[in-house]
Amino acid sequence: MTLRETLEARITAALEKAGAPPGTPAIVQPATRAGFGDYQANGAMGAAKKLGRKPRELAEAALAVAEIDDLVAHAEIAGPGFINLTLSDACLNRQLADYAATVIAARPAGADAQRVVVDYSSPNLAKEMHVGHLRSTIIGDAMARVLEHTGHAVLRQNHVGDWGTQFGMLLTWMNELANNDDALEHELADLETFYRHAKQRFDSDPEFAQAARDTVVRLQSGDPDCLRRWQQFIDVSMRHCEALYARLGVSLTREHVHAESAYNDDLARVVEDLDAAGLLTESDGAQCVFLDEFKGKDDQPLPLIVQKRDGGYLYATTDLAAVRHRSRTLRAQRMLYFVDNRQSLHFRQVFAVARAAGFAPEEAQLEHMPFGTMLGEDGRPFATRSGGVVRLSQLLDEAEERAYALVTEKNPELAEAERRDIGRVVGIGAVKYADLSKHRSSDYVFSWDGMLSFDGNTAPYLQYAYTRVRSLFRRAEVDPDSFDAPITLAEPAERALAMQLIRLPETLAVVTRDGLPHLLCAHLFDIAVAFMAFYEQCPVLAASDAALRDSRLALAQRTSAALKTGLSLLGIATVERM
Ligand code: ARG
Repeated sequence: MTLRETLEARITAALEKAGAPPGTPAIVQPATRAGFGDYQANGAMGAAKKLGRKPRELAEAALAVAEIDDLVAHAEIAGPGFINLTLSDACLNRQLADYAATVIAARPAGADAQRVVVDYSSPNLAKEMHVGHLRSTIIGDAMARVLEHTGHAVLRQNHVGDWGTQFGMLLTWMNELANNDDALEHELADLETFYRHAKQRFDSDPEFAQAARDTVVRLQSGDPDCLRRWQQFIDVSMRHCEALYARLGVSLTREHVHAESAYNDDLARVVEDLDAAGLLTESDGAQCVFLDEFKGKDDQPLPLIVQKRDGGYLYATTDLAAVRHRSRTLRAQRMLYFVDNRQSLHFRQVFAVARAAGFAPEEAQLEHMPFGTMLGEDGRPFATRSGGVVRLSQLLDEAEERAYALVTEKNPELAEAERRDIGRVVGIGAVKYADLSKHRSSDYVFSWDGMLSFDGNTAPYLQYAYTRVRSLFRRAEVDPDSFDAPITLAEPAERALAMQLIRLPETLAVVTRDGLPHLLCAHLFDIAVAFMAFYEQCPVLAASDAALRDSRLALAQRTSAALKTGLSLLGIATVERM
């Protein structure tokens, strides 16, 4: 339990003792303003209303019986019946003393641990991965890490698109090139061009187009030659994704790939089972599910089509099979889908149909975690000057190059190799953090200057704060990783920093619940700001005595641990100097 949860449980119990009906939670939240203490409980108001009592009186009575002395130094009733709580120094000190174990360490799987599927990245392999997949990949990976850290069993699922009619076109183009092995290899080295050339042939040559359609049929019926070519293409495309994952520091590997094609054998059964459940309706020759809750224009019923009139299955059919697999075989209790917000209707329909058909039990949590579009500085979807797709590899090259230039400007005396290394960590970190730090549901503007700034809520700012601590220890000639000392919190800046430091688990709990990693970013930023204030106001190496110096060093050491752990949960690395 986090400190906030413990306080909430204790105040809830006190409210009940004071007469509140059971099940009225105390609702403890971080105080919104200095002067309100550290936390504020507002449950007395709701409970009093139910009882027809005065809220302040109920809050008073609850405080009289609350067992919070080990945590709280000062509690008072404010306004209409808020309870303001100020933590005791003893409580803060306990958390700080054993910081690595109490605050930083991953939580062991508790009673509330779940098996959670995280569906993310999931690019279509027909084309090169593009910026559209960046958000899913980065946000999903951060969430997978945070969920693991908070004690859940995470099942990463990379639902790559490796099936469908486009592959007929691609395989036909491969066949044409195959007479000349070098040509094929050369074309496959650049999937974007490969796709474009195949599409040009498809659009301009009816014979090619017919061959492509025949190839789809042969592929779907399991023709060995087709399958071999298809596998060759998938391997190239998958390797390309893996290279990007490695560069980005994303924790996806081959073992997390559960491709669309893996569900092929299930699709007929999905349709049969929908039929058996009485959910299937034929409409225009297609097999559809109509649920009352989905209406289109003019209140027309909106179908989820699961089989086309030519017998082909669709994206939705595969997703229904995936829900069933994840629930029955992977035994997932929660499934999170990091997919852009244009697919919201798709997921609402798939989830509703899956429940109606019993593919997932009522209690399974199926959650689409949508995100907005990455925009260019002109406010339009991010693209090259000529409107083309931006290759991720080029984007990352530019990030590293810009960060390298920045480091070189700030620290020309560092060796070239170290500056290159810092450029990589800061450049990639900046791109990832720029994405993670925005509320995922909004669109955001991709801006090099913004994300690489050393001011404000950016990766370089946090990475820099981390290096400040490390350099402090270098100057003190003390090993930060083995150093420890008792901490006393005398100055307001010390206490403010300590408060930020111990609240990390509370933020992680909210991120886990809501799938919003920007809240972790905001908290890390608060920590860095509190540290900079502390660093300015409280001399460390020049402290008046050794005990004070060591106390402040210990606080700085906690800060670096919080920043490093928090950044690593976001999938962002740190460096020792920059
Ligand atoms: N491949 C899809 C796309 O690129 C995303 C798949 C998301 N996951 C899923 N289970 N539908 O749009």
